[in-house]
Amino acid sequence: MREKAFKLKKTPYGWLDFIAVPFSCDYGAAAALGVQKLLTDLSAVFQVVVMANFLDYTNRALKAETGWEPVFYWFSILVVCVGWRRISFRVGCIFTERLRIRAEAQINMVLTDKRARLSYRLIENEDSWNLINRVSEKPEHQVTIMLQRSYNLILYIIRILGVLYIVFSQVWWIGILTFILCIPLILISLKNGEKNYNAKKQVAEYERRYQYLGTVLSGREAVNERTLFGYSEKVNKDWYDQYEKARVIKWNANLKLACSVRGSSAVVTLISSFIIIALIFPVTRGQISVGMFIALATGMYDLVNMVGIELTKAVSQLSQCREYLKDLTEFAALEEVKGVDEPPSKEQMEVNELEFRDVCFCYPGTANMILNRLSFKIKRGGHYAFVGANGTGKTTITKLLTGLYDQYEGEILINGKELRTYSHPQLKAVFCGLYQDFAKYYISVEENVALGAINRLSQPECETEIENALKTVGLYEEISGLPYGEKTNLGKIRENSVDLSGGQWQKLAMARAVMSKAPVLILDEPTAALDPISESNMYEEFEDISRGRTTLFISHRLGSTKLAHQIFVLTEGHIQETGTHEDLMKQHGLYAEMFDSQRRWYQ
Ligand SMILES: Nc1ncnc2c1ncn2[C@@H]1O[C@H](COP(=O)(O)OP(=O)(O)OP(=O)(O)O)[C@@H](O)[C@H]1O
Ligand SMILES: [Mg+2]
Repeated sequence: MREKAFKLKKTPYGWLDFIAVPFSCDYGAAAALGVQKLLTDLSAVFQVVVMANFLDYTNRALKAETGWEPVFYWFSILVVCVGWRRISFRVGCIFTERLRIRAEAQINMVLTDKRARLSYRLIENEDSWNLINRVSEKPEHQVTIMLQRSYNLILYIIRILGVLYIVFSQVWWIGILTFILCIPLILISLKNGEKNYNAKKQVAEYERRYQYLGTVLSGREAVNERTLFGYSEKVNKDWYDQYEKARVIKWNANLKLACSVRGSSAVVTLISSFIIIALIFPVTRGQISVGMFIALATGMYDLVNMVGIELTKAVSQLSQCREYLKDLTEFAALEEVKGVDEPPSKEQMEVNELEFRDVCFCYPGTANMILNRLSFKIKRGGHYAFVGANGTGKTTITKLLTGLYDQYEGEILINGKELRTYSHPQLKAVFCGLYQDFAKYYISVEENVALGAINRLSQPECETEIENALKTVGLYEEISGLPYGEKTNLGKIRENSVDLSGGQWQKLAMARAVMSKAPVLILDEPTAALDPISESNMYEEFEDISRGRTTLFISHRLGSTKLAHQIFVLTEGHIQETGTHEDLMKQHGLYAEMFDSQRRWYQ
C-alpha cells in the first residue's frame, strides 16, 4: 500500500497550513529545516552583540585599558557565528531537497487519485480544467516555498524585533518609530503577492494555448500534415501571439513587484540612514558606546535588507502560496463520482432489458440538444445497429450508457432500474467495447490487451486469453513476427518499441474489448480503419465475439449492419426509423436511401 501522509482537507486551507501541509509531507525534513533556520537567525542577532563586544574590547585593548584575552574570546565567537552562517545555507538546501522530493511523491499521488475520481463533466469544463492544471503544476515547489517563507517570516520578525529591542533599549523612541514604519510595508507586500498570483493565473491560460500550439509545431502527431500543408509559419505566428500575451502579463507583474520591492527598500534605507544619524547624538553624550553604535548601524542596515527586500519577498511569496491554497481548497471541494476510479465489479450482472425513455441531453455548458426525446429498447442477446449521419448523437448514446455523463433528462433503464442508481463498478461490469476515439497505450502488446480484463490480470489463463483475443481480431500473426512477440513495447516511449499502423491499433483496441466478459458489447465504428479483407474477417469473427452478448453496433458501412436484429436510424437525436434491414428497405425511407447510395458505388 502506498503511504500517504498528506491528505486533502475537507475544510478551507488557512494560514496555519503553510506549516501544516509541509509537515504532513515530511515531518523530519520540515522540522530540521526549522532548526537550521532558527540557528542561523539567532546567530545573526547574537552576532550584533558579539560584534559590539569585540569592537569595544579591541578599542580598550588598543588603549591598554584591558588585556587581549577578551578580544580573542569575542573574536573566536564571531568566527563561529560567521562560519555557521556561511555553511548553514548548504545544510538548509539538503533538508529542502528532501522535503521537495517527498512532497512531490505524496502530493502528486493524492492529486492524481482525486483527479481520477472527478466527474467527467469537470474535466471537460474549461474553468475546472484550468484549476486542476494550476493545482497540479509543481505542487512540491509550492510546499517548499510556503514552509521556507513561513520560517523566514517568523525569523525575520524575531530578528527585526531583536534589532528593534536593542535599538529600543538604547534609544526608545527610535525603536518605536522604526516599528511603526514597518507596518505599511508589510501590507503592500501582501497585496503584491496576491496580484502576482492572479497574474500567474492569467498567464497559465495563455501558456496552455501556446504549449498546445508548440506540440502542433514540433510534436510527432502532426508531423505528416505539417509537412504536407506547410502551415508551420501560420501556427508559429499564433504561437507567438499567445506567447506575447503571456509575456506581457508576466513582465508587467514582475515590473510592478520589482518597483514595489525597490521602492520599499529605498524608503527604509532613507529612514534607517536618518536613524543612524540620530544615533550619533547618544554616542557623543556617552549614552551608548562606539562599539554599540557600529553594531547598531550594521544592524540597522541588516534591518533595511530584511524589511525592504527579504520581508517584502517573503510576504509576497506567502501571499502567492495563499492563493495556491485557495485553489487547493477549491480543488478539494470539486465534485467526485463514487467508484469512477474503481475496477469493474466482480459480480456479473445479466442485462435482460435496456431502455432509453424520452432521453434529452445537452453537453455541459452548451445549449444544443444532442439527444432529443430519444427512446428505444434493447433485449438480452440481441444485435442492434445504430446508423445515421455525422453528429446525430450515436457516440453520445454510448457515453451516456457507460455513465460518463449523468445529467440527462428522461430515463435510461437497465432491467427496469434507472442507470444512475447503479454504481460505476457495476456499470463497468455491464458494458465493454470500443470507443470511436479509442486509446493507444504506449506499453507492451500484451499489456494493451490485458487492460480489458483488469480483474483477471493475475490469473494463469490470462495469457492464453490474450493470445486468443489477438487471433480473433486477426492480429496474432503480425504480433508474433515482432522482435519480442506479445512483449514488444508499442509507441515511441520505451526501449525497442515499434509503432503500429492505424488499422493495427484499432484491432488491438478491439482485442481489449474481446478480453472483457461484460454482457453488453458496444462497438463504435470498430472497422473504420480496417482494410476490406480484415473488415470482412472481423465480421466473420464477430459471431464469436458477440456470442451470448447483447451488441450495440455503430457503423456507417451499412453492409455490416444488415445482419443486426434491429436497426435504429437516428436523425437529430431521435429515432426516425427502426426495423430489420428488410423492413427498412421496404419503407423506402432514409435508411433505404443511405443503403442505396452506398450500394451504387459497389455496383
Ligand atoms: N464533449 C462534447 N462537448 C460538446 N459537444 C459535443 C461533445 N462531443 C460531441 N459533441 C457534439 O454532439 C453532437 C453529436 O456528437 P456524436 O459524437 O454523438 O455524433 P455521432 O453521431 O457519433 O457522429 P459521427 O458519425 O461523426 O461519429 C455533435 O454535434 C458534436 O458537436
Ligand atoms: Mg461517433
